[in-house]
Amino acid sequence: MKQADKIINTVVTYYNQYNEQTRLSNHWGQVEFLRTQTIIKHYLKHPPAVILDVGGAAGRYACWLAQAGYEVHLIDPVPLHVQQAQTASEAQPGTPIASCSVGDARLLTFDTSVADAVLLLGPLYHLVAAQDRAQALSEAYRVLKRGGYVFAAGISRFASTIDGLDTGHFLDPTFQKIMQGDLKNGQHRNPTDNPAYFTDTFFHHPDELRAEVAGAGFEIAGLLAIEGISYMMKDFDKNWEVESHRKLMLEIIGSIEREPSLLGASPHIMCVGTKV
Ligand SMILES: C[S@@+](CC[C@H](N)C(=O)[O-])C[C@H]1O[C@@H](n2cnc3c(N)ncnc32)[C@H](O)[C@@H]1O
Repeated sequence: MKQADKIINTVVTYYNQYNEQTRLSNHWGQVEFLRTQTIIKHYLKHPPAVILDVGGAAGRYACWLAQAGYEVHLIDPVPLHVQQAQTASEAQPGTPIASCSVGDARLLTFDTSVADAVLLLGPLYHLVAAQDRAQALSEAYRVLKRGGYVFAAGISRFASTIDGLDTGHFLDPTFQKIMQGDLKNGQHRNPTDNPAYFTDTFFHHPDELRAEVAGAGFEIAGLLAIEGISYMMKDFDKNWEVESHRKLMLEIIGSIEREPSLLGASPHIMCVGTKV
């Protein structure tokens, strides 16, 4: 099997046993979704505009953006995700996703300079080799129009340590090894079949994410914490239910979203780059 196929095979195997469709509606996924929407809205121009959602999974962001009037094309290597996105699109017949197709961030089938924005909310942590991440970012650069934005999400180098302490996984010697690997060089390897320990991925230091996006030719428009330290909030579920508490929490997280000393403490980080 070629190296490229092996990488995609790992991704497909993982997502065939993990339900990505509901992730953004669960617990912390809700914070990730709302915060990502806020960041995207801050930069995105008004419709009409063309957006490629590369690694778009079951279409949560693509459906939201299509509903807002954008022409959205979703690409994902997992056939199940593409099918789920297609079904979600059919459920909003007035504002469907323009297209959903199986594909790879490293080799987009779109022409040069056609998109106003590219979402890369996933591929950069699934591509464990720097060369593959550079290829995905270079493809995003190619398909963007001048002035267009790439939204490149990474998982923080420190995410598994934070999560391990929170969940108690830190007590498991196997997880300790995973955590140590992450802290050493960002290479997250799960030798078990426990999906709670995720799959083979790469976790960025915030400075690395910025450097990789800049390395593809983008001007950096922002490096931001997505969830930030929202996990510090006591009684999350209770507070999240109360609209005023939820709003206040999101305001607080937003007010420190660019604080460099806190970026790595956020499970997900967003680097926004523009093609100049
Ligand atoms: C954790 S999910 C995130 C999905 C969604 N974008 C979000 O932010 O909720 C990561 C997604 O990246 C996709 N992915 C992994 N490797 C990819 C690649 N080489 N090209 C495009 N998408 C990829 C996966 O199939 C999966 O749907």
